[in-house]
Amino acid sequence: MRIGFNYTLGDTAPLVRKLLEAGHIDYVELLIDNFLAVPIDELEAGFAAPVGFHIMFSKFIENDTPALESLARRLRELIERLRPLYVSDHVARFSHDGRQLYHLAEIDYVGDYPQVRERVDWWQQQLGCQLLLENYPSIMDGGHDAPAFHERLYRDTGAGVLFDASNAVCAHLNCGVPLEAWEGVIEHSSHFHTAGYNLSILQPHLILDTHDQVLSEATLGFLQRYRGLFDGPEATLTYERDGRFDEAEIIGDLQRLRGIFPSSPVEPRT
Ligand SMILES: [Fe+2]
Repeated sequence: MRIGFNYTLGDTAPLVRKLLEAGHIDYVELLIDNFLAVPIDELEAGFAAPVGFHIMFSKFIENDTPALESLARRLRELIERLRPLYVSDHVARFSHDGRQLYHLAEIDYVGDYPQVRERVDWWQQQLGCQLLLENYPSIMDGGHDAPAFHERLYRDTGAGVLFDASNAVCAHLNCGVPLEAWEGVIEHSSHFHTAGYNLSILQPHLILDTHDQVLSEATLGFLQRYRGLFDGPEATLTYERDGRFDEAEIIGDLQRLRGIFPSSPVEPRT
């Protein structure tokens, strides 16, 4: 298992480099939307390590065609040059009745399937590579339909899952989706996420995927229990952190992940 860390903004570059140099991580996941305007040479020289691409705001289900085609052109250039370990995006709604949402919203996995399938097919063609879609940290009962949705989408389009283990734990705690329901998805996935989560400020309290806490015992237990299913020659696990960059806490979590997946780190990309 390769273990990675997400790089979202400039501020954390020194931390990411330090984690690489110390061997705590083997690759870096780029939130690629934030770096589209960075010259490719500069991006390539940024970290002496393999990269993964995480697309956050393509909004490929609802965005207009010219905007997506233009984004895809740039992404294809980056994919060709940086050869990421994977390219991932989000199945979500970013607007409702023409109004932009503050937080991305979960789709209706059953009712929206035909439209989403068609868009995934098209977006994957545009990018020219396999697309991985991240599972959502569900808060509503519709989350029960998510595992079957992802399995069906994989069968129909070849688009895989960037399986976020702690999002599955959030969905379990919020609406009772059993962790076992994801076995089929994990079995066909090689690229994973994990992060800390927290209680919402507003009541009723929900578990939100906040990326600012240490990994929970529930998440670590899940990874440990299914470690044989998660691990594999191509497998990657990105530890996501977007707030409270407490270095000792982060290193502690990365060491716990290495404890579960003790394979040796890979050589940096040349
Ligand atoms: Fe994630």
